Amino acid sequence: MIVFATNNAHKLQEIRQILGDGAKVMSLEDIGCRDDIPETADTLEGNAEIKARWVAEKYGADMVFADDTGLEVAALGGAPGVYSARYAGPGHDSAANMARLLREMDGVADRSARFRTVIALVRGAELTLVEGVVNGTIATEPHGTDGFGYDPVFVPEGHSVTFAQMSADEKNAISHRGRAMARLLEVLSIK
Ligand code: IMP
Repeated sequence: MIVFATNNAHKLQEIRQILGDGAKVMSLEDIGCRDDIPETADTLEGNAEIKARWVAEKYGADMVFADDTGLEVAALGGAPGVYSARYAGPGHDSAANMARLLREMDGVADRSARFRTVIALVRGAELTLVEGVVNGTIATEPHGTDGFGYDPVFVPEGHSVTFAQMSADEKNAISHRGRAMARLLEVLSIK
């Protein structure tokens, strides 16, 4: 059994699409975990590890992975980074986070940014960290309705449309999480 320590429906769908029939992935809900897992680290690596270890230890799962993703904007010194989900303050949604980002980037010439996903895989006492990165730029206004989070304002390198204007397959093929997942599959020797 492999547990993905998330209840994010978008991520589960993405990962199940990437894995196909290769492996059955259980969510936190599937294993009956309703804990509010504290994400108290100040790095993506730290938070991914906390989540994976929590589920492995409390639920006795022998293989658990957890991800943490940040949007790192060069002109903002790497912000919002590990704080991407809470950029507009606690309880705010993606629209508010994007609105703050566009405000901070108003008139800024260097719009380069990257999404970075870290996946922590815990197997017994063993911890493995893998990473996936996609470089791109921040658009001046949101475009597209697909995807989630900052997708409407992120234009991946080599493309002229945002992640939110791409199909799920197109995004998965080049995305940070898709790349981190590919590394995870190598580690697990699934594909
Ligand atoms: P998490 O650590 O994966 O929960 O992501 C932290 C923040 O980054 C959340 O606010 C998400 O909206 C955003 N985020 C994560 N992955 C993506 C993505 O693929 N596209 C756009 N935003 C994302």
